[in-house]
Amino acid sequence: MTAQVFPAHGPRDVIVHPDPTVLAEAVAARLLTRLVDLQSHRSPLHVVLTGGTVGIASLRAVAASPVRDAVDWSGVHLWWGDERFLPDGDADRNETQAREALIDPLGDALPASNVHPMPALSDEVPTPEVSAELYATALAEAGAPAFDVLLLGMGPDGHVASLFPGHEALGAQYATTVAVHGSPKPPPLRVSLTFEAIRRAREVWVVASGAEKADAVASALGGASVTATPAAGALGLERTLWLVDAAATAALATAEAPPAAPATDVWTAVDDYFGVLVPEDVALVDTRASAVAAGLPDIAVAPNQGKLLHLLAQAVGARRILEVGTLGGYSTVWLARALPVGGSLTTLEISPEHAAVASDSLVRAGLGDVASVVVGPAVDTLDRLIAEDTEPFDLVFIDADKESIPGYLDQTLALTRPGSLVIVDNVVRGGGVLDPSHPDARVQGVRTMVDLLTSHPRYDSTVIQTVGAKGYDGFALLRVH
Ligand SMILES: C[S@@+](CC[C@H](N)C(=O)[O-])C[C@H]1O[C@@H](n2cnc3c(N)ncnc32)[C@H](O)[C@@H]1O
Repeated sequence: MTAQVFPAHGPRDVIVHPDPTVLAEAVAARLLTRLVDLQSHRSPLHVVLTGGTVGIASLRAVAASPVRDAVDWSGVHLWWGDERFLPDGDADRNETQAREALIDPLGDALPASNVHPMPALSDEVPTPEVSAELYATALAEAGAPAFDVLLLGMGPDGHVASLFPGHEALGAQYATTVAVHGSPKPPPLRVSLTFEAIRRAREVWVVASGAEKADAVASALGGASVTATPAAGALGLERTLWLVDAAATAALATAEAPPAAPATDVWTAVDDYFGVLVPEDVALVDTRASAVAAGLPDIAVAPNQGKLLHLLAQAVGARRILEVGTLGGYSTVWLARALPVGGSLTTLEISPEHAAVASDSLVRAGLGDVASVVVGPAVDTLDRLIAEDTEPFDLVFIDADKESIPGYLDQTLALTRPGSLVIVDNVVRGGGVLDPSHPDARVQGVRTMVDLLTSHPRYDSTVIQTVGAKGYDGFALLRVH
């Protein structure tokens, strides 16, 4: 393999503040510090503003902070992530609110030419399409800046900027901006940055407060699809920060993502240090990047975990591998590459969208003949494989809906042989497994797995907790006997 590592995007951290007031103050302090730090080594800086209650309160807190004078505002450009397509000066425009909260108070310190609002409704700009086009041109003329900090609010439905669940603007390609019609939240006409533009930001900060956002926070961090929860696709090249208040985290303990931990930076740095042992070649990088570009959630295994799967498959001499949960095919590539000549891998995926991305990546990785993606609920595909009396698999990697783990393990028994190895991912659930009455079905899925495995007649098992770039988690390793 070629030793090239091109990170598609940086780590994602969650930082929780007690209430919306402290959250806004903390966002302001963090932004000011970031700008001051960055200005010691580059200029100009490009910041994307957001509207919303906490977004605007944060700007007001920036204006009120004495630290604002430590920033050289002549070297800061302000852009917007989205805008309501309304006439100039309308009180509902994000621009109007940002001017009142921050831009006007900054006065002459911030040159007017550094402020780049999305063009408002006027005779010259009669449609959001024209506004979006003009904004795309303005961005291109500014050299398509990699935004240093891109602030995003998030709605209770998980929308970010004006990218709403299930809306066609989510899929806008080859464009930095998009016109939005029929926004579910008034007004119906809007202009938004696309995911393509958002993901070019060095840092994306998603700011969310309030209990009404709790489900969307949990869902975005829990691996929901971008179509269902657009915020899941808001990723920064270098870092993604979720800045939330406690109320917005009410459902987070049940989410896929690990809780924020102060040690995460160290874990990631240590993973980076050992990264030389698990270099990704172009195909692996391409597989990961294609999944990100298609807006798939960031829940694939890390390179060192992929390599572990690869080594385990080699260690058991696996000729036939079964994977439950394909996503973009990243772990699939690691596993398929462990196969000897004539070996095969079957991977099961419920989402046709994920399966299509994975299939394309597998073909590009030269594994199209070795690995096949089967679309549909895994429980049905496994039943079909059992009914077809499929030749036993030597290694099974279970990495899909965790509530179904006990069922998958039952089905796996009919699809393996003594000596087969089974790996079940994400079984620690942020420690949620300790709580017998935990409300999350995924936690209960793991707890039922443990009951099932206790003194199991045919599975010999252990669970290993892990830390690393993917946070705190763990996997179960089972041997069929
Ligand atoms: C954690 S991701 C898999 C990550 C992948 N193994 C990797 O590391 O690159 C889980 C995947 O399982 C899929 N999934 C969820 N429920 C499923 C089900 N009932 N049947 C099949 N696939 C399912 C999801 O759509 C998602 O793509």
